[in-house]
Amino acid sequence: MLKDKHIVLGITGGIAAYKSVILLRLLKKAGADVQVVMTPSAKEFVTPVTFASLSGRPVVSEFFTANTGEWHSHVDLGIWADLMIVAPATASTIGKMANGIADNMLVTTYLSAKEPVMIAPAMDLDMMNHPSTERNIQTLENDGVIVVNPREGELASGLVGKGRMAEPEEIFKAVSDFFAVYNQLKGKRVLVTAGPTYENIDPVRFIGNYSSGKMGFELAAELEKRGAEVILIAGPVSISKKFGDKIKRIDVVSAVEMYEEAKKYFPEVDIAIFAAAVADYRPERHEEEKIKRENKEELSLRLVRNPDIAASLSKDKDGRLTVGFALETDNGIENAKRKLQSKNLDWVVLNSMRDKEAGFMKDTNKITMLSNLGEEISFPAKSKREVAKDIIDVIIGK
Ligand code: PMT
Repeated sequence: MLKDKHIVLGITGGIAAYKSVILLRLLKKAGADVQVVMTPSAKEFVTPVTFASLSGRPVVSEFFTANTGEWHSHVDLGIWADLMIVAPATASTIGKMANGIADNMLVTTYLSAKEPVMIAPAMDLDMMNHPSTERNIQTLENDGVIVVNPREGELASGLVGKGRMAEPEEIFKAVSDFFAVYNQLKGKRVLVTAGPTYENIDPVRFIGNYSSGKMGFELAAELEKRGAEVILIAGPVSISKKFGDKIKRIDVVSAVEMYEEAKKYFPEVDIAIFAAAVADYRPERHEEEKIKRENKEELSLRLVRNPDIAASLSKDKDGRLTVGFALETDNGIENAKRKLQSKNLDWVVLNSMRDKEAGFMKDTNKITMLSNLGEEISFPAKSKREVAKDIIDVIIGK
């Protein structure tokens, strides 16, 4: 199952290091070639001999071998590996990874990693719940690290709570699932629009909406994980997420700018997903100076229609798969079906402002997907990250 896969298994200094022996066995049995990298304190818990014997490779722990001067290249490891797993990942190592403190071989390898990285945190419950740990894990997630969440249960301290490393079988499953979707979209290019558009009235005011860009950015991140090259055209959002080389982010402000960029890239892509909340209208005039209140009791703005990006590009899609969203307040299914047809889309993702777990700014969404072949698939409320996976699974037919 993992034949020919190269995995760097990072071990840090926590009692759960003993479970990583079993994880190593599972990876080896599935055919993976595993290079173990240990932090100095990890060696206090399990000896390198155990990992070296089971992996068939000498463990790497120092930057060089003291008696021969042989240099261990963290850069070469980063090029060799298809995946790096840090299990257990202690609070200290997570903190160093999140902040780029490269004072040992493991964190240096992480900073040089070209491959995706997974961590399985393990620590006492107070450390797990500390704001700095939560912040560091969030930073790593934003950096694209996959987190195999710890479980609730009995901890080495004798306390009971969250912080127990996921069982080796669960981590192994996360690795298998990762490789099952890894490269699924290799060679494919996908355009994603995300966030709101702002339509300027004057230098200080605009017409906009509450879209945060979260849904579109999760889609882009998931597409990247599956090997696609992504053109992400984002309206004004405050997401500073750092993506890998496969995502080209283009920031725009207005609907017209978003349309111009989307038009430029559409001919190059295989799939286009329109997740942006695009303003349908813009002020006819953009005043150069701030509009003064003076004695005006009323102010009228004349609005003109913006281009419909999804409809305009999907009109001549020439075999490309196009997916739109429908954000509705009422008659959801009916309106979504109308948008599916009028915009010539293959799929439309309906989310309703009536669902408290769905819509603008939330971390969750609740969707129903409708296809031009009459399919209708509803999902329960999930995090936008999971929703992105569901959408991609459905549109590529997995
Ligand atoms: O960004 P978040 O805070 O995470 O919120 C996510 C979201 C609610 C914005 C997202 O899930 C969503 O529903 N996006 C589409 C919102 C919307 O504008 O829906 P609509 O029903 O008005 O538009 C239908 C489709 O046409 C959409 O795919 C839209 O991108 C596209 N459209 C609309 C108008 C226009 N001028 N050009 C377009 O391309």
